[in-house]
This record gives sequence, C-alpha cells and structure tokens, in this order.
Amino acid sequence: MLEKDIQEVLFSQQQLEERVSQIAQEITRDYAGQEIVLISVLRGSFVFMADLCRHIDLPCTIDFMSVSSYGKGTSSTGQVQITKDLSGDISGKHILVVEDILDSGNTLSYLLKLLEQRKPASIRLCTLLDKPDRRVKPVEVHYSGFTIPDAFVVGYGLDYAEHYRNLPYIGILKPEVYGG
Ligand code: XMP
Ligand code: MG
Repeated sequence: MLEKDIQEVLFSQQQLEERVSQIAQEITRDYAGQEIVLISVLRGSFVFMADLCRHIDLPCTIDFMSVSSYGKGTSSTGQVQITKDLSGDISGKHILVVEDILDSGNTLSYLLKLLEQRKPASIRLCTLLDKPDRRVKPVEVHYSGFTIPDAFVVGYGLDYAEHYRNLPYIGILKPEVYGG
C-alpha cells in the first residue's frame, strides 16, 4: 500500500540488516574494553538505533535527544533547537551519536559542538546515510552505512511529513507525493 509512493528501492531490508550488523561489529571492535553511551537523535534514527544496538556486543547505555532545525522547505539552517535533551550526564563517557542521515551538516555540526562542551571522554558519529553532495558544514563521520545521491529518501525511520517511517526498506519518494 505504501509502496505505490516509492519510485525506487535504494536499500532492501536485507541490505540494511547486513550493513547495520557490519557497522555494529566495527564499533564492537573499536571500543573493545570500554563502555559507551549511544545517543539516538530522534526521531529519524529510532529504527537504525534499535537494530544497531542489538548487534553491539559491549556494555552500553542508551539515551535520546530531539532537535528541530528551522529552515525553508526541505533544508535545515544553522539554527537548531533542542526539543528534548539527554536524560543522563555524559561527562567522562565515550559517546556515540547515532543519526539517520547526514545532509547539509547543519544539525550535526551544532549538536556535536554542544555535546563536546559537556566534556565527554570521546565523541564519535555514526550515520546510516550520508548525502555528501549537499554538505554546507564539515562534519567528521566515523561510521557511515551508505553514501547516497541527492534525493529525498524515506523508510527505516526516515519520514516525509511524519509518514513512511515504518517502511522496512529505504526508498526514493515519488516527487508527485510532495508536489515536486
Ligand atoms: P542537516 O541538513 O542539518 O539535516 O544535515 C539532517 C536532517 O535532515 C533530515 N533529512 C532527511 N529526512 N529524507 C528524510 O526523511 C531525506 O532524504 C533527508 N535529508 C535530510 C533528517 O531529519 C536529518 O536528521
Ligand atoms: Mg533526523
């Protein structure tokens, strides 16, 4: 039923499962002997986080943060507002920020700077998707699932107008759906 709005499937459920488990194995290796705090940036990363954390074989805690970027149309600006802050203190801890997609970099460059001020022991970024063509602010990425072209994608947590988050795969939305 939702499929009728999808122009092309970019990553199938199986491809996502395989890649997410590979990233989790990398994380498990890199942080061996340490405890980490996984920070999910809501809402887009909730599905990725749920799958990723179940493949990470390390002691870890999980926290959530919600931000909204104000911008015209589909792009964010440098102005970011925290709509839900973390529940726990991150000072002295190893932080891994888990995002669905890195686009202009506006949101994450702001967020990472803010988290750094709280003096974590280390901070790294894990993003499922990276759209480098649209980058405005440089952001250092430590773990990236897939690099994608400049198209609007939905599914696996990613939305258009809060819909399609429940699609088990990632696809490009038909432009007629958003009046493009
Ligand atoms: P910036 O541009 O600050 O923003 O890096 C990243 C946020 O923008 C959203 N975003 C998307 N959401 N499909 C989506 O569903 C996309 O293709 C897309 N590109 C950017 C997303 O919320 C991300 O956190
Ligand atoms: Mg997001």
